[in-house]
Amino acid sequence: MKIEPTDFADGAVNVRLQKLQGHLNGLFTAFPVATSHRAALRKLGSDFVYAAPSPLANDRGSWMALVRFGSVIERRFGLTRELIAYYSPHADLQLRTYQRLDELIDPRRPATPDVFLLWTPDPMTAAKLDDWSSRAAYVAVALPRIESATNAEEIWANIVNRLTTTNLYDQTLPVTGRDFFGRQATLKELTSHLTAGRVSGVFGFRKTGKTSLVKELGRRVASRQDTHQIFVLRDLETLPSAELDQVPNLLEDLRVNLLAELRSQGLRTYELVELPHKPTVSDFRRALHTLLAHINKSDVNVILALDEIESLVGPASARDNDRPEVVELLGALRALVQENPNFNVVVSGLTSSILEEGQLFSRENPFFAWASTMFLPRLTNVESKDILVRLGERMAIIWDDESALRAAEIADGHVFLLRTLAAKVVQTLPSELTARTITVDILENSQKRWRRSVAGHVREMLESVSRYYPDEHSLLDLLIEDPLQFEIIEEQFPSQIEHLIQLGLVVDAPEGLRLTALAAFHGRGLSGLQ
Ligand SMILES: Nc1ncnc2c1ncn2[C@@H]1O[C@H](COP(=O)(O)OP(=O)(O)O)[C@@H](O)[C@H]1O
Ligand SMILES: [Mg+2]
Repeated sequence: MKIEPTDFADGAVNVRLQKLQGHLNGLFTAFPVATSHRAALRKLGSDFVYAAPSPLANDRGSWMALVRFGSVIERRFGLTRELIAYYSPHADLQLRTYQRLDELIDPRRPATPDVFLLWTPDPMTAAKLDDWSSRAAYVAVALPRIESATNAEEIWANIVNRLTTTNLYDQTLPVTGRDFFGRQATLKELTSHLTAGRVSGVFGFRKTGKTSLVKELGRRVASRQDTHQIFVLRDLETLPSAELDQVPNLLEDLRVNLLAELRSQGLRTYELVELPHKPTVSDFRRALHTLLAHINKSDVNVILALDEIESLVGPASARDNDRPEVVELLGALRALVQENPNFNVVVSGLTSSILEEGQLFSRENPFFAWASTMFLPRLTNVESKDILVRLGERMAIIWDDESALRAAEIADGHVFLLRTLAAKVVQTLPSELTARTITVDILENSQKRWRRSVAGHVREMLESVSRYYPDEHSLLDLLIEDPLQFEIIEEQFPSQIEHLIQLGLVVDAPEGLRLTALAAFHGRGLSGLQ
């Protein structure tokens, strides 16, 4: 594409040079090629607005600059903040350099956390950035290696390429920060429970965003300036499969994780360091108790989040096994919370039975009726549209109003369905900027392919209901066969229906109960097999 002087003139950046020149000259002296980058940026209606030596530790010789884009680019990519351009003198670009780029963001000068510009003398820079594009939460665009008359075209093409070849909807890891959308009321409720010292349980169907929510909670808690906050999140899914090894393994991990956090904040670690190798539950409890009392004097709060709690308590069919050590561990955690005002626990997972059943492994369940239980609500249509539109902006994608609402309705409040559907649609879009508006037609064209591609996942997800909620699973099957049975079933099995509503498989709509898209998906999958 040949760039004409008028293409980017609208809302071009106009920098007052006198104030800036000193800084920029430093950059130009260290990296002469930056002079040509500046000329190219100006052709794109954009400019450098700041430059300084890299603020990172052990990073001598590198520089960073801030680029402000003109309105044409800003509008197209929703890039409303300045971009960091990073210049490194090292001839061999390393992955860790790329992975450290976000550390360049200075809270006093907010820059875009999604895209960085990068220059190094390494001829492989662009290729390496291609390879690494999924290794960080952001993308980096290579600046032209050498001065050339077509640098503006090259920068523009690289940005467009990078932003239109990523598929931000396609994300299977938990999300936090700028990638975490909606759920503000839930987060607020959870935070206020924690502040009030109440233990909380966050439950929900698979892939509804439980882990993301707890991680985001941890991020927000840890960023509080007033007190020291130690937040340790342990995913119990990775516990060893041999049941007897689970509690010892968990204790060891908790010790290691707590130690790492305490050390990184320069806090007392003595009791945990002294803990014998392979501690018993009561060793662990005593050590943590003493340590908590000490660090309470310096206003240190510790929150332990146990995710995928069902991995520890097992499926419904295993509740009568003999596992005294699990009950002992839960009892120890409860005692620690009760005895220490600066310790709290959050559990999350698929089943709330750990808080609802009086008996666990034929003993009294220490967590019974102890914590406040919260189920992740289905996303509202507004939240769903927000995810589509705001992630879309970062890839130069526009959803027209009708298509965004339609996609929200198809996903019916389930974030996994929403993101996989959007990801499928985006795969069909061309990279020409003018052709990146999603209409209902484009959406409908991808729907069948999307259904086929996620049917297996959905079936797998619903299988877990049969493990942890066997009665509910049977009812669901009945309802899929014959939705007219809702009234009878609702009357006869009120608590099971309540669970299905909590899991987002049934909705209590004004016109009566109905299956959600996720549950109905199952039905369609089965009838497809017949
Ligand atoms: N608040 C959110 N905003 C946007 N996407 C989300 C949000 N929460 C979850 N997701 C998406 O859903 C997927 C499943 O989230 P995750 O937290 O792993 O769910 P769970 O722990 O319930 O299985 C993630 O990969 C992420 O892409
Ligand atoms: Mg999870």
